[in-house]
Amino acid sequence: RLYTSPNKGFIEVGPCNVFMINNFEQVYDGIKNLTVYDDDVFLLGFPKSGTRWTQEMVWLICNDFDYEGAKETILTRRFPTLEFDGVTHYNINITKTISEMKRPRLLKTHLPWSLCPDDITSYSKKPKFIVVTRTPEDVCLSMFYHARTSQGFTGSFEEFCILFLAGKVMFGSYWSQVLSVWEQRDKHKMLFIRYEDMKEDLAAVIRQVAEFLGKNVPEEEMPRLVRHLSFDSLKVNPAFNNADLIAKFNGHCNPFVREGIVGGHKTAMTSEMIERFKIMKRKMFGDAGLCFD
Ligand code: A3P
Repeated sequence: RLYTSPNKGFIEVGPCNVFMINNFEQVYDGIKNLTVYDDDVFLLGFPKSGTRWTQEMVWLICNDFDYEGAKETILTRRFPTLEFDGVTHYNINITKTISEMKRPRLLKTHLPWSLCPDDITSYSKKPKFIVVTRTPEDVCLSMFYHARTSQGFTGSFEEFCILFLAGKVMFGSYWSQVLSVWEQRDKHKMLFIRYEDMKEDLAAVIRQVAEFLGKNVPEEEMPRLVRHLSFDSLKVNPAFNNADLIAKFNGHCNPFVREGIVGGHKTAMTSEMIERFKIMKRKMFGDAGLCFD
């Protein structure tokens, strides 16, 4: 539906012609004009980069490891996404909800830098940003499953890869989103973390994030936190796994906690496609010093 005809279901917005979710126009002005505070914490990341996993981590670090609270209220309400939660999840005026949130607020967006609130793109406010990245081939594979199960995409993985390389998937170009945020790293308080590092040593990334946020994670807390954030535990946690959304679509929806591995693309992509991604990574990120290998 979304991918066969960019004019149906997709809208193009902004200077970089980002392909966006349906109804994005309804919330775009609100997002641009959102009042940002210096004590906000923003989580930035292209969809399928492990953003929800990171949100759960950040929420617990910032809320005294309140595991009960984390299970009582779904993640999208504790830690809203600017562009989604106004449109998809509870269909209300998201910016009004955000403006009524208790501070300090935790907010997520998948948007490229140019579509973020003016208060931050103009540098008039200086919140903290945690940016999560994931190797593009794995993002592409994860997105393919999402497109197939939730968005009516009927093409092959090969075809999806071509769309992904061209930036013609939901939220537009992975390459531009990552690069546009990376270019801000010296202008804002930004911490970049990688999905692959979270998989390899979650505790180390937790310590890094906590330090960046000025929080302490006592070592005796670490095993429980790591357990709570494990793939197996979050997969069955209804406050995390979008069970409500999946039920709304009678199960015809992407399992948001799907496979959770590094390098899944290696068995799904042809060697020609892996080469095309390699060339693209070199072209887009080579000079910027971004490395995913
Ligand atoms: P896969 O589809 O490759 O499994 P996002 O939240 O940014 O949309 O990212 C979704 C991806 O993060 C999915 O990847 C999902 O399975 C993975 N993920 C979610 N929780 C995870 C966890 N605890 N450990 C590892 N991966 C996780």
